[in-house]
Amino acid sequence: MKTDNFAHRAAEWDSPEKTKMTEIFVAEMLRFVSPQSHWKALEIGAGTGLVGLQVSDKLRSLVFEDTSEAMLEVLKQKLKPDSNCEIVHGEVFEYQQSDIDFVFSCMAFHHISDIEKTLKHLATITTDGATIVIGDLRTEDGSFHRFEPIPHKGFDTDLLSELFHGAGFEVVSVHTYNVLKRERIEGVKSDFEQFILIAKKI
Ligand SMILES: C[S@@+](CC[C@H](N)C(=O)[O-])C[C@H]1O[C@@H](n2cnc3c(N)ncnc32)[C@H](O)[C@@H]1O
Repeated sequence: MKTDNFAHRAAEWDSPEKTKMTEIFVAEMLRFVSPQSHWKALEIGAGTGLVGLQVSDKLRSLVFEDTSEAMLEVLKQKLKPDSNCEIVHGEVFEYQQSDIDFVFSCMAFHHISDIEKTLKHLATITTDGATIVIGDLRTEDGSFHRFEPIPHKGFDTDLLSELFHGAGFEVVSVHTYNVLKRERIEGVKSDFEQFILIAKKI
C-alpha cells in the first residue's frame, strides 16, 4: 500500500468548511438522481464518509472505498453496528462484484492516477443502467494542491466525458455547481470551479 497522504488530516477532516462542501455536492447530486431503496451504491474516495452518510439511509446498502486507512478509521467510528454500510480499504479495483447500481465520488478523482482504467473497472462492477456521479475540480493551474503531488490538476470535462463514453457510459450532464475561493498565493484569492458529471451505464 502507498503512503497515506491523508493520515495527518483525517482527525481534523470534518471541519465546517468540508461539511458544507459535501452538502453542496449532495444537494446538486440529488437534483439529478433519486437514490432508490433497492440500490447498492459505491462511494469512491469516501474519506470520513461526509458525502455517503448523507444518502446511506435512502439506499439498500453502501460500500465506502478509500485508500486512506486513517480517513476510514474516522468513518468507522461513525457507523452503527447495524448499519447498511461496508468499508473497502484500497483502490476501487479491490471491489470485484458486479452489483453496484449507483457510484458517486466527491473531490477524489484528481487523486486517482489511471482514470481510464478506473472507468473501465466501473463498467465491470455496475449493473445495466447504473448511475455514476463525479464531483471534482475543473482544470486548474496546480495551485489548489500547492505542496502535494497529485496526478491531476483538475479535469478538462470534455476529455473526461470522452473517457466515460469509451468505457461504456452515456454522459447525461456536466456543469459547474460550485466555485471555491481559496488564497493559495498570499493576498490573492483564486476561484476553483467544481463540476458535477452525471453518467449512465449504457
Ligand atoms: C479530498 S479527499 C475527499 C474525501 C471525501 N470524498 C470528502 O469529500 O470529504 C480525497 C479522498 O480520496 C482518497 N483517495 C486518494 N487516492 C485514492 C484512490 N486512488 N482511490 C480511492 N481513494 C483515493 C483519499 O484518501 C481521500 O480520502
